[in-house]
Amino acid sequence: MSKPTAPDTDSAVWTRISNDGVDWDQFDSAAYFDHNYGSLRDDDRHIIEIVSDFFQEQKRRYPDQWRHKAIDVGAGANLYPALTMLPFAAEITLYERAATNCDWLQRQKAEPNESWWQFWSEMTNGRDDYRAIKDPLNLLSRRAQVKKGNIFNLPEDEYDMGTMFFVAESITNRDDEFKRALRTFIGSLRNHAPFAAAFMKDSSGYRVGNITFPAFSVGEQDIERQLSELARDVSIRPIESNGLRDGYGGMIVATGRRKK
Ligand SMILES: C[S@@+](CC[C@H](N)C(=O)[O-])C[C@H]1O[C@@H](n2cnc3c(N)ncnc32)[C@H](O)[C@@H]1O
Repeated sequence: MSKPTAPDTDSAVWTRISNDGVDWDQFDSAAYFDHNYGSLRDDDRHIIEIVSDFFQEQKRRYPDQWRHKAIDVGAGANLYPALTMLPFAAEITLYERAATNCDWLQRQKAEPNESWWQFWSEMTNGRDDYRAIKDPLNLLSRRAQVKKGNIFNLPEDEYDMGTMFFVAESITNRDDEFKRALRTFIGSLRNHAPFAAAFMKDSSGYRVGNITFPAFSVGEQDIERQLSELARDVSIRPIESNGLRDGYGGMIVATGRRKK
């Protein structure tokens, strides 16, 4: 069965494509990885600085709150959000809808790509909690478990910290689904749990291999508006990025803690 993906014409803007209307099992993990994470770019370097500083600072501020359970939602073909949580969590769930990405994540656990060392090395830069880990990819393989699941069915109040990179705005072009995805991600965290989320800004959809996937166009204010209801200590930062592909206006990273 092949479900429709966003047509490659301007009319796609006018077509509402829901998350269920896409065949996520056609997501080409290898093509996505090669294009995005085969080597470290400056935009991801900047995101890593912000997110690693944030998680380390949370540990300094709340030293008695060891984070048992972490989740990376819509992990796709990316290990670096999970790596940012590695020093602080005993278990990390890599939560993903596409069967192709779940298989890819399982294979990476056993045989991680060399490029992850570039991402890790950026995290260790001046940060003791990361530097204390000598064999991060091996440790990640022991702490991480891949779970096939749908963001809209995440359990409530379950996780002690979380990441969600390029998911809520990149799995639908419907505003209601973007908002619901953000709500269920934050809702899956316990009260006060720290999180980091990254977004493509003003995205009009994206191509992976031969398929175009939908996106909902967001800016800093949309994210701020949604998160203000769900989180405390929210910080939203623009990330300069260009040349990755056509049809986007940079990236945005948000950090904060869940509020109930
Ligand atoms: C643009 S990719 C982002 C992947 C990765 N987080 C990254 O940082 O590059 C969007 C991911 O969301 C996944 N996804 C789509 N719908 C989902 C859903 N309903 N629940 C969970 N994951 C979903 C896709 O399979 C894909 O891996």
